[in-house]
Formats: sequence, structure tokens, C-alpha cells
Amino acid sequence: MKFLLCLVFVPLIVTAQLLTTEKQWTDECRAETGVSIEALDQVRHNDFCITDDKIDAFILCFGKKSGVFNASGDVDVEKLKAKLKTIVNNEDQVNEVIAKCVDKKETKEERAFRAFKCVRRSYPEFKAL
Ligand SMILES: *[C@@H]1O[C@H](CO)[C@@H](O)[C@H](O)[C@H]1NC(C)=O
Repeated sequence: MKFLLCLVFVPLIVTAQLLTTEKQWTDECRAETGVSIEALDQVRHNDFCITDDKIDAFILCFGKKSGVFNASGDVDVEKLKAKLKTIVNNEDQVNEVIAKCVDKKETKEERAFRAFKCVRRSYPEFKAL
């Protein structure tokens, strides 16, 4: 019986911790960037017709906390690769998406949001967490 309980409880606890971290980072980055709730809702639903341009800074802020972007605001390719591989365990496919989505154009905020959108188009369930 104890064993059964453990099997059920562990995943629940892990999920709760992830959600708490996500909420904390979201709150911190909202305070830092002033992004609107509407824009965040849109991102959650993969609706990228966002008029609030603070979303760029928000994505960069959140991604830095999760480690997908490093301190200079560049994509940490190894970290992103590791996260994508939890969605599709296919090195070639992951490399293809990274080659398509990661570039050095424009400001680092614009790049961050563009990379995020691009990855989500290939993998709608991608989370930077
Ligand atoms: C972030 O990554 C870029 C590209 O890999 C690298 O040039 C830069 O030095 C890194 N910055 C930090 C602070 O690690």
C-alpha cells in the first residue's frame, strides 16, 4: 500500500513544484517588464498576434531564469536541445528546429520572442521551464 501511494504522490509533487516555479518566474518577469496579462494569456494559447511589445522582454526574462537564454541573452543551444529532446527524442529534428529558430538578428529581446514563437510553431507544447 505504501508503495502504491508513493507512485501516485511523486508525480503530483513534481508537477506542483514546477507550477510554483513557473508562477514565481512569471510574477517576477511581469513585475520587471510590465507585460500585460492579456499578452501572457495569448502566449499560453500559442496565439502570437500580440500587440504588447513588452512580451519580447518578458520572454527573454523568463528564458534567462530557465537557462534557455544565457546572461548575454543568447540562446544556450545545449539547454534548448535538452528541453526539446524531452518532447521529441530525435537529434536531427531538434537540430533542424534550432537552426531554423535561432539567429542573431535585431535586438536580443526581439530575437528571444522570435525564437520562442518559432519553436512553439514546431512544438506547441514547448515550455521554457
Ligand atoms: C552566451 O552565449 C553566447 C553564444 O554562445 C556567447 O558568445 C556568450 O559569451 C555567452 N554569454 C555568457 C555570459 O555566457
